[in-house]
Amino acid sequence: MQPFTFHNPTRLHFGKGQLEQLQQELPRYGKNVLLVYGGGSIKRNGLYDEVLTLLHELGAVVTELPGVEPNPRLATVRKGIEICRREQIQFLLAVGGGSVIDCTKAIAAGAASEADIWDIITRKAEAKGALPFGTVLTLAATGSEMNSGSVITNWETQEKYGWGSPYTFPQFSILDPVYTFSVPRDQTVYGIVDMMSHVFEQYFHVTPNTPLQDRMCESVLRTVMETAPKLLEDLHSYPHRETILYCGTIALNKMLSMGTPGDWATHNIEHAVSAVYDIPHGGGLAILFPHWMKHTLDENVDRCHQLAIRVFDVDPAGKSKKEAALEGIQRLRRFWSDLGAPSRLADYDIDDSRLDLMADRAMANGPFGRVKQLDRDDVLSILRQSL
Ligand code: NZQ
Ligand code: ZN
Repeated sequence: MQPFTFHNPTRLHFGKGQLEQLQQELPRYGKNVLLVYGGGSIKRNGLYDEVLTLLHELGAVVTELPGVEPNPRLATVRKGIEICRREQIQFLLAVGGGSVIDCTKAIAAGAASEADIWDIITRKAEAKGALPFGTVLTLAATGSEMNSGSVITNWETQEKYGWGSPYTFPQFSILDPVYTFSVPRDQTVYGIVDMMSHVFEQYFHVTPNTPLQDRMCESVLRTVMETAPKLLEDLHSYPHRETILYCGTIALNKMLSMGTPGDWATHNIEHAVSAVYDIPHGGGLAILFPHWMKHTLDENVDRCHQLAIRVFDVDPAGKSKKEAALEGIQRLRRFWSDLGAPSRLADYDIDDSRLDLMADRAMANGPFGRVKQLDRDDVLSILRQSL
C-alpha cells in the first residue's frame, strides 16, 4: 500500500423514511435555501412535493433552480452562482442524480470563491471554500453523494472535466431506495455500469500488497452482478434497489482505494466522448471499458487474470494468464450486453468523423492512466476499436 489519509465528512442517512432527517439537518444551516433539481423526474414521482413541504415546515425561504441537464452544463452552474449571490443563499439542497449533485457542488464552490468557476474546474485556480450543501439522491450511479468530485460540461467549447476540492463533500446525503423506484430501465443499467466501472478504475492499479482492497472491490462487483439481473426483472423491488443504491455509494466514496490510487483512464476518455456527443456516462463506459482492458492487457495481465477468476468465475485450467484474462473481459462484455447496455459507439450513431476532437479533449491535461500511461495514439486506438 501507499501511505494514505482517509477523511470523508459526509453524513449518510440511508433507508426508508430517511427524508425526515431534513428536520435535524436543515436547522444547522441558514434559512435561505436553493433547491436544485433536474428535468422533472422528482415532480413526477412526488419527491418534490415531499421535500418542499418539509422545507416550508422548517420555515425555509426556498429559491429553485430546476432544469439541471444530464451531463450538467457550465451555463447552469453560472446561473446558480448568480442566484446564490442575488438571494444570499446560505444552503443548497440537491435533489436528483449525479448531474444535479455535481452541478450543486460547482455552484456551491463558485459562489464562495472569487475565482471564476471554469478556472477552478480547469485547475487554473483553486476553490477557496464552498457554501454548505446536502443531497437527496434519486439514482444509484456516480457516488457523488459521498465524494467531493464533480463533472461539468462546457457545451460551447465541448469540454467536460472532472474536478473536486476538500470543500465539496456534501454535508449530508439522504438515500431512500423508494425514490429510485421510478428510475427507468436504461438509466438503471447505466448506473450499474458506472458503479462497476468505478470499482474497476480502483481495482486496476500498480500498488503492491492490497489484499483487502482487492477483496472489497471483488465483493462489490459480485454483489452488483448478482443483484442487477434481478432488479431489472422487477424495477420496484425494494431489496434490490436498496442493494444497488448502497453499492453505488460504496463504489466511489474512496473506501475501496485507500492506499492505492486507481487508473481512471477510461473515465477520462468517456468524459471526452460525452463532451462531444452528450451521451449518457454509463453508456459510454460500457462501450469503452472492455476495449481499454484489452488495449492495456500486457501491462495489466495479473490483475485482469485475478478479476477473471474471482469475479467472472473463469476456470484457469489449461489456459495462459492472458487467455483466462481475455475470457474474463469477454464475460464482462456479455454481462453488460445482456443487461441491455450499448457495446459500440455506433449504437449512439458515433462514427469516425470526430475521433481527433475526442482524442484532443482526452489529452487536455497530458498523458494519463496509471496502469499504462496513455498518449494520443493509445486513445485513438481505443476509440477506433470502440466504433
Ligand atoms: O433530470 P431528471 O428529470 O431528474 O431525470 C434524470 C436524468 O434524465 C433521470 N432520473 C434521475 N433520478 C430519477 C430519474 N428518473 C426517474 N426517476 C428517478 N428517481 O435520470 C437521468 C440521468 O440523471 P443523471 O443525474 O444525469 O445521471 P447520473 O447520476 O448517472 O449522473 C451522470 C453525471 O455524473 C457524472 C457523469 O459524467 C455525468 O455527467 N459523474 C460524476 C461523478 C462524481 N461526481 O463522482 C463520477 C462519475 O464517474 C461521473 O463521471
Ligand atoms: Zn463514472
